[in-house]
Amino acid sequence: MVDGNSPRGQLRHTAILLFSISFLTMVGAVFADEPEGAMVQAEYSKGANQCMACHREGREEAAHEIFLTPMGISDSENSPFADGRHDCETCHGPSNSHRSRQEDGSRPLPGITFNNKTPVAAQNEICMACHDDSTMMHWPGSTHEEEEVACASCHEVHAPRDPALDKLAQQEKCFSCHPRTRSETFRASSHPLRFGEMTCTDCHNPHNGNNDFLLVNSNVNDTCYSCHAEKRGPFLWEHAPVSEDCTLCHNAHGSNHGALLNQRSPLLCQQCHAPGGHASTGYTTDLAEDSFQQRFMLGRSCSNCHAQVHGSNHPSGVSLTR
Ligand code: HEC
Ligand code: HEC
Ligand code: HEC
Ligand code: HEC
Ligand code: HEC
Ligand code: HEC
Ligand code: HEC
Ligand code: HEC
Ligand code: HEC
Ligand code: HEC
Repeated sequence: MVDGNSPRGQLRHTAILLFSISFLTMVGAVFADEPEGAMVQAEYSKGANQCMACHREGREEAAHEIFLTPMGISDSENSPFADGRHDCETCHGPSNSHRSRQEDGSRPLPGITFNNKTPVAAQNEICMACHDDSTMMHWPGSTHEEEEVACASCHEVHAPRDPALDKLAQQEKCFSCHPRTRSETFRASSHPLRFGEMTCTDCHNPHNGNNDFLLVNSNVNDTCYSCHAEKRGPFLWEHAPVSEDCTLCHNAHGSNHGALLNQRSPLLCQQCHAPGGHASTGYTTDLAEDSFQQRFMLGRSCSNCHAQVHGSNHPSGVSLTR
């Protein structure tokens, strides 16, 4: 938390009691960086009322809707508006000087703004001061943290309903930085994301850097099994790539081929099974008139016979045909 006591005040009191050289050197370094007038900048005003005069409902810079959100109405002592905190300035930092114009007519900025006028690390530090709990445990070191994505890029704390917590609005937030994913989810075959029946956080935890690709589970397959449990097996006859990684054949976001497949059969299978046996027959079109050959090319192609491509429990299912 930002402390109300100014470093100068602390210095005066403590220095009298404790004339230690090391202490003076330490604080001296702080002084050296502080420009003249920083004292005025660093003052808190006396609570939200001071801000609402200008930021009330109906004004262009209205900020009242925060009082409709869990953060605004929470009576927990952790709330920004709890006794002993600084209301709006718990997040926006000491902003007293912002309340009046300077001689040249300009208005000093609040201590912290959640846009490009304040470095991302400083913004996120404010939020993490209260949210350093299990939800955010694996945030440090996560891709989003390292790429300096601000909490406020996904969260809107002044909106009555934070879009990050809404299935459709959340996706729009993500798509603003991940446009390719948007186009994938609009392909012919996709998870029902665009209908709001599923959303990104069914598979991803945007805070959790512990897992590959910020997935909700530690790897791709465990993430898929959470809804497609029947694909986990165990199978008498496993198909090696299935237990290895579903995305060897499927694109989790969407595809122009059926069943989210990366490729259509037989090409899908021939990426790995091209050279040997009848497996390469699918390439030869000169025999396409032959009704036996057509079984390799038409309909579900290889799956016409190898229907159990995810694994088989049939005693003679070794070739995944039953
Ligand atoms: C006398 C009117 C007035 C008061 C009081 C006031 N503000 Fe502002 N505030 C403004 C205006 C006007 C803007 C629009 C930007 C500008 O003109 O500087 C603004 C902008 C802001 C912004 C956006 C800054 C940005 O550039 O992104 C924040 C945050 C803010 N105010 C917070 C506060 C807080 C917190 C308080 C209470 C300590 C407060 N304001 C009190 C008038 C006021
Ligand atoms: C002074 C402490 C404090 C600070 C600072 C703070 N929060 Fe919160 N936040 C809370 C409390 C308290 C709640 C309500 C949770 C509860 O009561 O369960 C909350 C709830 C939330 C929620 C859940 C909202 C919902 O609708 O369920 C989100 C998201 C959130 N905060 C994001 C942020 C972000 C982003 C920042 C930084 C801009 C931030 N918080 C700064 C204390 C804080
Ligand atoms: C890349 C987007 C993104 C970023 C960046 C992000 N969040 Fe979130 N956050 C989300 C989404 C999406 C959810 C909803 C999770 C869900 O539905 O399972 C969420 C949920 C939350 C919640 C509510 C948890 C709950 O279930 O009540 C809090 C609190 C929160 N985030 C705080 C933060 C803080 C603090 C930061 C910055 C340090 C941050 N978030 C950064 C996307 C993000
Ligand atoms: C929990 C932290 C938090 C608290 C408390 C808070 N703000 Fe904000 N404020 C933000 C964030 C984050 C943004 C960036 C936009 C957003 O997330 O909605 C913001 C944006 C703003 C803006 C810019 C306009 C806008 O909506 O984008 C103004 C003005 C503002 N806040 C004023 C206030 C005032 C006045 C209060 C007290 C009533 C207040 N804020 C309380 C975090 C906070
Ligand atoms: C402000 C921009 C921004 C927003 C908003 C955003 N991301 Fe990201 N995200 C990034 C950046 C930058 C990277 C790293 C480079 C990349 O992979 O594109 C990234 C990477 C990722 C990755 C790959 C992680 C890895 O370790 O390979 C996933 C998954 C992801 N984001 C999901 C989401 C989801 C889900 C949301 C919405 C809740 C979201 N992102 C919102 C900027 C953003
Ligand atoms: C059904 C699960 C699932 C859903 C839903 C999902 N993803 Fe993914 N996503 C994955 C998997 C698995 C990977 C990593 C494997 C890969 O490379 O395809 C991934 C990778 C990513 C990546 C990094 C690699 C890349 O493709 O750029 C981003 C960014 C991403 N997802 C964003 C999103 C966003 C945004 C949403 C919501 C619109 C979303 N995902 C919904 C499973 C999912
Ligand atoms: C949160 C639950 C959930 C998770 C996690 C999930 N799926 Fe799905 N999956 C669904 C739903 C719902 C459908 C649509 C079923 C329908 O339309 O009948 C579906 C459909 C599919 C389909 C069939 C699409 C079609 O057009 O026939 C495939 C393939 C698929 N998922 C693969 C995956 C893979 C691979 C993963 C892991 C990256 C995964 N799923 C993770 C819920 C999930
Ligand atoms: C070797 C390629 C391959 C791999 C790896 C693979 N699949 Fe499939 N999957 C297919 C094919 C081919 C189809 C279409 C089957 C058909 O046409 O009958 C399919 C269809 C599906 C379907 C929809 C039809 C059904 O059977 O329910 C789901 C769901 C599915 N796969 C989930 C998964 C999951 C989960 C994984 C990882 C555990 C996975 N797949 C790994 C090739 C694969
Ligand atoms: C990513 C590579 C990959 C893809 C794609 C793939 N397979 Fe396989 N498949 C393998 C591996 C590895 C084995 C195990 C080979 C072994 O044990 O010698 C295997 C085994 C098999 C077997 C059993 C072979 C035996 O030894 O009896 C059949 C049948 C089979 N695959 C059919 C298919 C079909 C049909 C497709 C397309 C839907 C497909 N495969 C796609 C890698 C792949
Ligand atoms: C007309 C039915 C049929 C079609 C279509 C078919 N297979 Fe087979 N496949 C079989 C049968 C039956 C076996 C077991 C034959 C044996 O044991 O000699 C087999 C065996 C295999 C094997 C095990 C190793 C081998 O070569 O004997 C692989 C790999 C394989 N098929 C891949 C494919 C691929 C890839 C396709 C699509 C290009 C395909 N199959 C299309 C019926 C078919």
